[in-house]
Amino acid sequence: MASVKTKTVWFCKECGNESPKWMGCCPSCGEWNTMVEETVATGRKNLHTASDVPGSGRKPMLLKDIDSSVEQRISLNNAEVDRILGGGLVEGSLILIGGEPGIGKSTLSLQIPLHCPHLKTLYVTGEESARQVKLRAARIGGDDSGCMIYSETLMENIIAQARRIMPDLMVVDSVQTMFSQTVESSPGSVTQIKETAAMLLRFAKETGVPVILIGHITKEGSIAGPKVLEHIVDVVLQFEGENRGTYRLLRSIKNRFGSTSELAVFEMTGKGLREVANPSEMLIPMHEDGLSGVAVSAMLDGMRPFLIEVQSLVSTAAYGTPQRSATGFDVRRLNMLLAVLEKRAGFKLSVKDVFLNMAGGLKVNDPACDLAVISAVLSSNFDLAIPSDVCFAGEVGLSGEVRPVAQTDRRIMEAARLGFRKIYVSSFTSLDSLAGQDIKDMEIVKVADVPSLCRSLFR
Ligand code: TYD
Ligand code: MG
Repeated sequence: MASVKTKTVWFCKECGNESPKWMGCCPSCGEWNTMVEETVATGRKNLHTASDVPGSGRKPMLLKDIDSSVEQRISLNNAEVDRILGGGLVEGSLILIGGEPGIGKSTLSLQIPLHCPHLKTLYVTGEESARQVKLRAARIGGDDSGCMIYSETLMENIIAQARRIMPDLMVVDSVQTMFSQTVESSPGSVTQIKETAAMLLRFAKETGVPVILIGHITKEGSIAGPKVLEHIVDVVLQFEGENRGTYRLLRSIKNRFGSTSELAVFEMTGKGLREVANPSEMLIPMHEDGLSGVAVSAMLDGMRPFLIEVQSLVSTAAYGTPQRSATGFDVRRLNMLLAVLEKRAGFKLSVKDVFLNMAGGLKVNDPACDLAVISAVLSSNFDLAIPSDVCFAGEVGLSGEVRPVAQTDRRIMEAARLGFRKIYVSSFTSLDSLAGQDIKDMEIVKVADVPSLCRSLFR
C-alpha cells in the first residue's frame, strides 16, 4: 500500500472550495472569513462518486440497451414524504434531510421506521444515546419491531454493521457527528463530512440500501456548510418553519428521481409529526366575519396551491418615524407596496405604523401575495372588513398595476374547493384553462390597478 502522508490545506466552510493557503475571501463563493485549516491524507485514493467504485467492471453501453424498467419504489407509509420523494424511496438512493436544530429531523426519520414495521431499519445515532431514542420512540408510538438502534460514530464500524445486517433502510443521524479513521480532522469538519457522505454513497450504490442522512444547517442557511454535500447525494430535503410555531414545511431542493417543486406540510404534535394533507384549512380564518385588516391570499409554494391569511394592523405612528414590521413577508417588499399605495392611490400611510403577519408562522415569497397584503393594509386603514369568502391572487407593480401570476387556474380551483366565493385577479389573467372546471359558484373579479381594487372592495 502506498504510504499515507498528510498535508495541511484550507477549506471554505460554505462551498467546500479547497485552497493550499489561507485567504480572507473565498475565491469560489466570495464569502469572507470562511476558510478553515484541515489536515488531509495524501497518497490515498479518494472515492467520492458511485462511478469510482472499484471492481464494478462497467463498460460504456448504448442508451437504448439500458434497462429502465426496474426502478423500485419503497412506500414509507407517509403520503407527504412519499410524494416529495416523487412516489416513494428509490433503492440505493442517498437522501439528505437538512434543517435547523430542533425542527424535527430526528423525529421524522425515527417516525418513518416506526410506521413501516415491515422494513428492517438500521437507525444509527451519533447525537443521542440509544435510551434517548427509545424515549422518543415511546412518544411517537407505532410498531418498533423492525427498527434497530445503533449508537456509534465511527463510519468504518457503521458500514461493517450495515453490511452484516443488510437493512431495508438505513438512517444516519447526523453527518456532523460521524467520522472516519482515514481522515485526520475532527468530526464536523469539511473533509470528514465529505468522507462520511462518500462512504455512505458507496454503501448505498453497492448494496441498493436506501440511506437517509441527517445534516444540520448553518446559520447562513446552507446544509452542513459545504455545498459539496448537496452534489454528492441524490435527494436533498429541507425542513423549514418557525421553531415556536407548530407547522413544519419539508421542501425538496434537489431530487434525481422526481420534481423539486414539491412541498410537504407537517404539524408537530405531542406524538410526532402529523401529515397535513390540507394546509389551507389551518391557514385560513377561524373567526367570524367582520374583522378588519384580514385578507386571504391564494398562494403557491412550489407546485402546491394553498390559501393563507394575511393580517395587517395600521395605526397612527406614536413616534416621528413610522414603524414597518413584517413577519413571514419581506419588509422591503412591504415598504414598496406602501409606497405604491401612497403614490398611486393617494393613501397617506407615511404617518402610520404598519404591521404585517402571515398566518401559521409561514414565510411567503410568492409575489401573488401582494394583492392580499395591499387589501389587508387598506382594510385595517379604513377599518372596513373584507368578507371571509373573498381571496386574492395578483402581483402589484411599481405603477400600481395588478399583474397576472403563474398558475392562476390552480389557485382558483383550490379556493373554490375550500368554499371561497370570490377571487380578485389581474385583468390580464387568461382563464382559458379553467374551461370545464366546476367553479360556477366562484365569482372572478378582474382588477387592472390598485385604485380599481380599492373601489371594488370598499365601495
Ligand atoms: P428533533 O426531531 O429532535 O429535532 P432535530 O433532530 O431536527 O434537532 O425535534 C425536537 C423538537 O420536537 C423538540 O423541541 C421536541 C419536539 N417534539 C414534539 O413536540 N413532539 C414529539 O413527539 C417529539 C418526538 C418531539
Ligand atoms: Mg436530532
